Amino acid sequence: MNNKRIVVAVDGPAGAGKSTISKRVAKILNLEYIDTGAMYRALTLKILRKGINPKDVTKIMEVMEETIIFFKNNHIYLDGTKVDEEIRKNIVNKHVSEISKIGKVREKMVDMQRKLSESTNVIMDGRDIGTVVLPHANYKFFITASVEERARRRYKELLERGEKNISYDQVLSDIKERDRIDSTRQIAPLKKSPDALVIDTTNKTIDECVNQIIGIIEGR
Ligand code: CDP
Repeated sequence: MNNKRIVVAVDGPAGAGKSTISKRVAKILNLEYIDTGAMYRALTLKILRKGINPKDVTKIMEVMEETIIFFKNNHIYLDGTKVDEEIRKNIVNKHVSEISKIGKVREKMVDMQRKLSESTNVIMDGRDIGTVVLPHANYKFFITASVEERARRRYKELLERGEKNISYDQVLSDIKERDRIDSTRQIAPLKKSPDALVIDTTNKTIDECVNQIIGIIEGR
């Protein structure tokens, strides 16, 4: 590696393994990890807690104006309180794409994300990182897996988190719906950047994917 700043963009659909892989790469290469999905999730959590209709853009923007979202030591804070666990709840999974498709919400988030990535070596994951947030990233990856495999992983994760009253079929249909909203929205849809390398994790271990990415960044 030379002295140039390292900027890595990672995109892909729900449950493909982006965040697990990005976190490990960040640790090994000593990069700042920014989970942009967590930011959309934190805002969604606040909207749900306040009982605001996810379609009420005016109210949502009012809430966003008075909301502080930041990361500290790889934990996410919403208005000063750590919300790592709450933002992974199934109720947030179900509503986050609805909130994330609002153009004004995205504008503010993208601003915050660019600021967070200034002047540091960074790996950022999400849906529009290589295409919109960091189009000049020097490494871009699009991490994917079959929808069934992604649903299996998410179902297992939710069970491990103690969620009750969920079924694999329901998780599968929720993921399909989220993929649909994320890929068809008007602003910054989930899309592979033409210069991104695709990594299909369906039949690969996390370590294999991490090693592949590190190999590329280190120019091996
Ligand atoms: O963890 P998972 O892959 O299920 O999703 P996530 O990365 O936490 O993102 C949750 C949701 O936030 C996505 O389904 C998108 O609707 C939205 N999102 C987005 O619109 N743009 C991003 N850069 C990141 C997430």
